[in-house]
Amino acid sequence: MLMPNFIKTSRLSLTPFERTDIDRFIELVNDEAVALSLASLPLPFTAPDAQAWLADREQQQASTNKYLFAIKTKTSGFIGVIGMDRQDEKLFDLGYWLGREFWGQGYASEAASAILHWAETNVGIKAITAGYFQDNPASGRVLEKSGFLHTGVKTMRYSQARGKKVKSIGMIWLGNTFVSHAGEVL
Ligand SMILES: CC(C)(COP(=O)(O)OP(=O)(O)OC[C@H]1O[C@@H](n2cnc3c(N)ncnc32)[C@H](O)[C@@H]1OP(=O)(O)O)[C@@H](O)C(=O)NCCC(=O)NCCS
Repeated sequence: MLMPNFIKTSRLSLTPFERTDIDRFIELVNDEAVALSLASLPLPFTAPDAQAWLADREQQQASTNKYLFAIKTKTSGFIGVIGMDRQDEKLFDLGYWLGREFWGQGYASEAASAILHWAETNVGIKAITAGYFQDNPASGRVLEKSGFLHTGVKTMRYSQARGKKVKSIGMIWLGNTFVSHAGEVL
């Protein structure tokens, strides 16, 4: 993961994930309301899981295929994460979660809009995918508010915390990509 710049919004700081964030991460993600909506984290998420997760992230610090930010507020410090990753130079996929006590205040939408703007202006990314489990409409709403469109593609995606596949609804964000009359992508 090539360490990104810090991103500031009116209420949030998106900062590179630090080892000191891990205790609060473990505390907030060990909640069914959070973990069951995620694809790639187990429940419970134990201290050894966290060490493996951290080691994986640190090993990929030089990669341009993964970007991960801690989401922080002035008063509460670490409240969740947002990031995007891709495999084999394919499209980036966006993911995020917030501790339950921080829901319903527009934080996820604020963080998503900020990372999309950053990805477009600082990394030159022109399209990002995302998917949410069909029983998680709040995440679909976050994506809609951030400018994602429904692709109509639904897949069965494995949720580690549920231990089974769940129907996932596919969305895509196309930034401000325009194609000129000459067919040149601007
Ligand atoms: C999904 C999640 C990130 C949303 O965070 P948040 O900060 O509460 O999101 P926001 O406040 O920015 O926006 C939530 C939107 O969903 C809407 N919403 C909430 N519950 C909803 C529901 N059951 N059905 C439909 N919309 C719902 C809210 O009204 C709001 O939309 P509005 O601004 O138009 O009113 C948070 O609930 C979370 O971390 N969930 C667990 C992990 C997760 O789902 N991650 C995403 C995986 S794809």
